[in-house]
Amino acid sequence: MCGIVGFVGEKEDALPFIFNGLKRLEYRGYDSAGIALASKSGIAIQKTQGKLAALGELLEALPSGIPCGIGHTRWATHGRPTNENAHPHTDCQGEIATVHNGIIENFQTLREELIAKGHRFQSDTDTEVIPHLLEEYGGAEDLVGAVRQAETRLQGAYAFLAISSRDPERIVAVRRTSPLIIGLGTNANYLGSDFSAFLAATKRAQILENGDMAVVTPHSVVITDKAGSRIDRPVITVDWDIKQAERGGYPHFMLKEIMEQPDVWGDCLLGRIRDNEVVPQEIGLTWDQLAEYQRIQIVAAGTAYHAGLIGKALIERLARIPVNVDVASEFRYASPILDRGTMVMAISQSGETADTLACLRLAREQGVFTYSITNTVGSTVARESDAVAYTLAGPEIAVASTKAYTTQILVLSLLALLLARIKGRARPDLVQGMLQLPFLGHKVLKGIDGITTMAERMAGTHDVFYIGRGLDYALAMEGQLKIKEISYLHAEAYPAGELKHGTLALIKEGVPVVAILTEHDVWEKTVSNILEVKARGAEVWGIVDERFPATLPIDHYIPIPIGDTLLAPVLAAIPLQLLAYYTAVARGEDVDQPRNLAKSVTVE
Ligand code: AGP
Repeated sequence: MCGIVGFVGEKEDALPFIFNGLKRLEYRGYDSAGIALASKSGIAIQKTQGKLAALGELLEALPSGIPCGIGHTRWATHGRPTNENAHPHTDCQGEIATVHNGIIENFQTLREELIAKGHRFQSDTDTEVIPHLLEEYGGAEDLVGAVRQAETRLQGAYAFLAISSRDPERIVAVRRTSPLIIGLGTNANYLGSDFSAFLAATKRAQILENGDMAVVTPHSVVITDKAGSRIDRPVITVDWDIKQAERGGYPHFMLKEIMEQPDVWGDCLLGRIRDNEVVPQEIGLTWDQLAEYQRIQIVAAGTAYHAGLIGKALIERLARIPVNVDVASEFRYASPILDRGTMVMAISQSGETADTLACLRLAREQGVFTYSITNTVGSTVARESDAVAYTLAGPEIAVASTKAYTTQILVLSLLALLLARIKGRARPDLVQGMLQLPFLGHKVLKGIDGITTMAERMAGTHDVFYIGRGLDYALAMEGQLKIKEISYLHAEAYPAGELKHGTLALIKEGVPVVAILTEHDVWEKTVSNILEVKARGAEVWGIVDERFPATLPIDHYIPIPIGDTLLAPVLAAIPLQLLAYYTAVARGEDVDQPRNLAKSVTVE
């Protein structure tokens, strides 16, 4: 997820509007940033790796008084965060500049085609194919026509802005999935990835829809569809303040990040399944590497560790390859037994967790193959691994990890399906089922009734127990961490069958128990465990596959639609996250920045 901004006015200087707009969008990405201005004298660009402050130091090198420009703040997906990979990107002649948010899925093919036609690329991003394609289609002279033609060649989910020095009074914008909004000013117009980019200047806006193209000048906005037919998008007035706009209107980043998961899952899976097969290169591995390793050692911390527990269950059940999962802070000092038949896998949202990094370095010292799953391109974990897969979840601002966790599970699911295929245990039904997850995720979000009431009840309790079997126990581990770290309630997770070996002594009248029930094979066993705790007075919250009968002895019933139980974890995670979130809200806690915690623990 990146932030894009555009400004086109009559006489005003575009630069301050664009830079301030980027400041508002910095939460969307902060690997690198850049600004391009268009005038008859040409395209002037300043861009740099690093946060927006680094770009701020270069702005005096840009000419003032130019009223047309675009800006970008990057969250890297393809190509490390470097100066060359920073946006904006230009064509060979430097007459066209573009900024882009999203993923051009077929960029390699287009890049090869354009290089064969003599185009010279400066970066290794997917984005740079856009300005060269516009150049190829005569964009310097006819930017609008070139954009329309280029649009027919691009595949993926994206939004982009384009400007030309030969036509510096307009910005051409395209939206295909990734958000793009037009701010309507007086003798000037604005564009942004969300309202916060221009809310300080205007509250009147038009939201572009998928497939829209807009030509924006200081006095006009013309929106058309792919065929070039004029479309009228309603003009709305935004009544958010800036902070609300940065959070997409949600009260906290954590809720925004929970709610955007189905769309983020779509980004994470984009291009990784083709013709109902998982593409190994799209998760950073080759067939040889997949075939080479007979066992996997996962190292991670916190929520990433819980994702690893899910990964273990999936890989062992689907591919019958033994997987060990260790908390990184333990593994690094446990004199682990590693050999060349082992793949050591690090899972880390930030890619900077000290304990996890130490495990990677330990593995490399022993000559063991290292693979990482991370959300942060160019992170230390990514750079120090032999192979890496990105979760493509976009920046996760809230300290409590949500969309990073579920996208880690998606990448682990893709890996499990690839390993299964190599072992002659292909499951095309599950590959197909993965493509349904974004749809089912939206259905879960729409279908959870009464979660705030359930959370208000939970907020008044103490000592919460989470129980489940198999994948549901791994989910219970994540559920208890979520509620602990943001609502400060004490919580523990237990294998449902383990309660009777001691912990059951703590169950008495009114003790809250959250039971997770998606695993069909052990459903009756878990139900008997629920009856055990009910018999001792527990109050039970149940996150349950909706196909199970509602007659279950559950006080707070949260049915969820599930396709295959092996693909259920990301769906069952949503109510666990929401229960924790609303419990913390009910208790008046600081949801996004909980006490004592940091987003990335870069020390031991
Ligand atoms: C998750 O909600 C926590 N904030 C924390 O456990 C986190 O998952 C852990 O610190 C690992 O971080 P990483 O994924 O960036 O390595």
